[in-house]
Amino acid sequence: MPVTSGGNGFAIQTRDLSRDFGSVRAVQDLTLDVPAGTIYGFLGPNGAGKTTTIRLLLGLLEPSGGEAWVLGHEVRTGSQEIREQAGVLLESDGLYTRLTALQNLDYFGRIARLSEPDRSRRIQDLLTAMDLWDRREGRVSDFSKGMRQKLALVRAFLSRPKLLFLDEPTSGLDTPSAVALRRQLVALARDEGVTVFLTTHNLLEAEKVCDRVAVIRKGALLAEGSPQEIHGGRSSRVAIDGERFSAELVGRVERLPMVESAVVEPATDGSPRILVDLKPGTDARAVVRLLVESGAEVASVETARESLEDIFLKLVEEEEADTGEESP
Ligand SMILES: Nc1ncnc2c1ncn2[C@@H]1O[C@H](COP(=O)(O)OP(=O)(O)O)[C@@H](O)[C@H]1O
Ligand SMILES: [Mg+2]
Repeated sequence: MPVTSGGNGFAIQTRDLSRDFGSVRAVQDLTLDVPAGTIYGFLGPNGAGKTTTIRLLLGLLEPSGGEAWVLGHEVRTGSQEIREQAGVLLESDGLYTRLTALQNLDYFGRIARLSEPDRSRRIQDLLTAMDLWDRREGRVSDFSKGMRQKLALVRAFLSRPKLLFLDEPTSGLDTPSAVALRRQLVALARDEGVTVFLTTHNLLEAEKVCDRVAVIRKGALLAEGSPQEIHGGRSSRVAIDGERFSAELVGRVERLPMVESAVVEPATDGSPRILVDLKPGTDARAVVRLLVESGAEVASVETARESLEDIFLKLVEEEEADTGEESP
């Protein structure tokens, strides 16, 4: 087993990590390697086991089976070290609503044993990075949800953690606040070289923000890799508009080695269109060449890159088909 002193380039490693609640298997044989320095997305629908996984990694819950290491510490024996060295933003942000932003941060900075000059400096830098410096004297109770969440993020960064756990950091925010928070989070994390393990049920967020993504459903891993790798491992679809697409020609397209399937359908304006599904890692050049050389006229070629959302939905459907389950 390749595990791990934390010096091996992985901030988090799990091997067959599992957790049951009675008869509910919330996390199932989860094996993950989270490279240090990455923003790692843990993606899954509600109830998939994301929060349970974070609680296992922080040593707040005992695993039912398997093993996990965080920053080189085993979760069963090293939870205190893990919680000292990792920053955390869970569903409840732990801020004191009757205190100002500055009072909150000063308090948490003292707990983190930052010296006075360092504390002031760090608080100013982080509040500035989050566009909250002007609101430092405001009480948390007067903050919008978005501002409060940013302040909670500042708190998580305060002690210069090597690793940050963020549980659905943008959930409940309106779109502009979510976009701002994401942007500032990524900038800060890159600046400070922090590994971020963030959960989300928002596919767009995972695709935009994360270097790597793990997709889970019902506690089990469905797919893992960079967003590009998750795309690249699957077929892509190309729409070719033009004229003179005979049935014979479409048949020849379909027999090309990189083509999974080809069908003709009228485009929205009524002109013919061929939809070609390509095998993973290939492209449509040979298809276009065959069409042109055979006397068809090609007006446009559009590659419909699958979004992570399509892939996510497909994975979930495939999994359901495999296990013979009904969709909810
Ligand atoms: N403390 C608990 N007691 C019993 N069941 C739980 C508990 N925590 C989570 N679960 C169950 O475990 C599953 C995963 O939950 P959770 O990790 O919160 O999912 P997510 O964060 O992905 O929405 C769900 O079926 C949930 O009901
Ligand atoms: Mg959750």
